[in-house]
Amino acid sequence: MFLYIEDIWFKYDKDFVLKGIDFQIKKGETVAIVGESGSGKSTILRIIAGFERPQKGIIRLENRILTSKQHFVFPEKRNIGFVFQDYALFPHMTVKQNIEFAKKNKTKEMLQLVNLKGYENRYPHELSGGQQQRVALARTLATNPKLLLLDEPFSNLDENLKDRIRMELKKILNKAGITTILVTHDKNDAITLSDEIIIIEKGKIKYIGKTEEVYDQNYVN
Ligand SMILES: Nc1ncnc2c1ncn2[C@@H]1O[C@H](COP(=O)(O)OP(=O)(O)OP(=O)(O)O)[C@@H](O)[C@H]1O
Ligand SMILES: [Mg+2]
Repeated sequence: MFLYIEDIWFKYDKDFVLKGIDFQIKKGETVAIVGESGSGKSTILRIIAGFERPQKGIIRLENRILTSKQHFVFPEKRNIGFVFQDYALFPHMTVKQNIEFAKKNKTKEMLQLVNLKGYENRYPHELSGGQQQRVALARTLATNPKLLLLDEPFSNLDENLKDRIRMELKKILNKAGITTILVTHDKNDAITLSDEIIIIEKGKIKYIGKTEEVYDQNYVN
């Protein structure tokens, strides 16, 4: 398995918010994590990215242990790309400068990938929410991450734009062939984008399965 997560237990203060999380992802697959607010979705991503260290558990990415009792690789050494819901572009930098900040000489290629050719010199405030989101994605992909973590990437978009961006993201991920974990509240995001779905409830995994099976069996509605 490409990404291997074993028995993760984590608490911020006195109560555990993750209680024995186990799952694995194959290379190139997209997994959606769904669940109610406060169930622990963002915390899982933060632990995989290395922003938090769990009290117990193992994370291995392509034969390299990132987190365990004995090991802890710092976030910047993990080769993991992260896009947060507020996309956080630097407002005083152009699209090109934003991307070059992450990686030099890849702006053209990345803008082509996310369908924003010719937008190099725009500032973030001159772009729509969806375009900003794609720039954030381009910036992350420019670093050539082994694993991409997306936390509610469409939360700031209206329904029409969401449908379009979702389809575009699907194409981008397919083209890039990148292993992805997507956290979302939205059933349509999960159905359109993921190969597998993980349903999390109060810090535990309630169900893992192929996307079409999960919805066929009405585990989620
Ligand atoms: N920095 C923090 N300090 C203390 N508790 C926290 C912190 N961040 C999150 N929590 C708590 O941990 C639990 C899981 O939070 P998390 O952010 O992972 O949920 P989530 O599933 O991403 O929710 P949402 O869908 O609202 O984003 C919640 O009970 C939350 O209150
Ligand atoms: Mg969250």
